[in-house]
Amino acid sequence: MIIKVLGSAAGGGFPQWNCNCQNCVAVRAGTPGYRARTQSSLAVSNDGDNWVLLNASPDLREQLNATRELHANPKFGPRHSPIKAVVLTNGDVDHIAGLINLREAQAFSVYGTDRVLSVIADNSIFQILNADLVPRIPLRLNEPMPITGAGIDVGMTVEAFAVPGKVALYLENAAAGPDFGTQEGDTIGIKITDTKTGKAFFYIPGCARIDEPLAKRLKGASVVFFDGTLFTETEMLEQGLMPKTGSRMGHINMSGADGSIEAFSKLGVGRLIYVHINNSNPALNDNSDARKTIEGAGWEVGYDGLEVRL
Ligand code: MLT
Ligand code: MN
Ligand code: ZN
Repeated sequence: MIIKVLGSAAGGGFPQWNCNCQNCVAVRAGTPGYRARTQSSLAVSNDGDNWVLLNASPDLREQLNATRELHANPKFGPRHSPIKAVVLTNGDVDHIAGLINLREAQAFSVYGTDRVLSVIADNSIFQILNADLVPRIPLRLNEPMPITGAGIDVGMTVEAFAVPGKVALYLENAAAGPDFGTQEGDTIGIKITDTKTGKAFFYIPGCARIDEPLAKRLKGASVVFFDGTLFTETEMLEQGLMPKTGSRMGHINMSGADGSIEAFSKLGVGRLIYVHINNSNPALNDNSDARKTIEGAGWEVGYDGLEVRL
């Protein structure tokens, strides 16, 4: 299996258009140790020919142009795409807006939970993807399903599972109480398995907490791509960017007793890679103490173009 990180930043990207945090200023200035990043998405293939996108970011067009494997191949005629399916892990703007870039009457499948597919059904702009050509396929939780699209079985399965999280920002209902109306299926992690080799990896770009069932599921995994939004719970507040904590946004922090570094320290995962990294995160600076802490704990900080073979 070939896994490519198309975009390693969280919503807004790095730099974010309206942000003057220390990181955004530094990356715009071309400061050594800072690398620009596009918004959250991976691509995976088991044969190098047929690919599945894991989330479709608003930066998808730029990501496709930057990724030779995802280009239209003239060998297959006047219209072609290697992309056979898109799997969505939530309804956040950074994960679904890129579907609009996949218009132009090309066949592929869209996988998501009923909750996320209903967001797409309720927003008429997504009707630009004709459902006869682009079927929406509901993911059933805790059940590996073969991934197919454009009449092709891509030789991989996807297993979706619920993770602690929050409903998409634009769907928050303050009147619904402290969880803003969040329901099961609003945020999922996925396990992708190569049907031939049995090799598998996990992709969890949004996660509020690592609870017991999630820890159990991830124990001993070969590769996990995980929510690296924030280094600390309060960094956005402290930098004067937004009056929200990580937990309010549905994202766990990397550091501290309640962070992902600590939670994964006992799980024996082969390779741990942060993705969905927010522009406020000090670990985006290659020379920061935060980066040293992460790497010292065995984590990698994902970047656009990172390729993992399994
Ligand atoms: C998130 O990950 O919390 C969302 O992408 C935020 C947003 O919609 O901007
Ligand atoms: Mn996001
Ligand atoms: Zn910023």
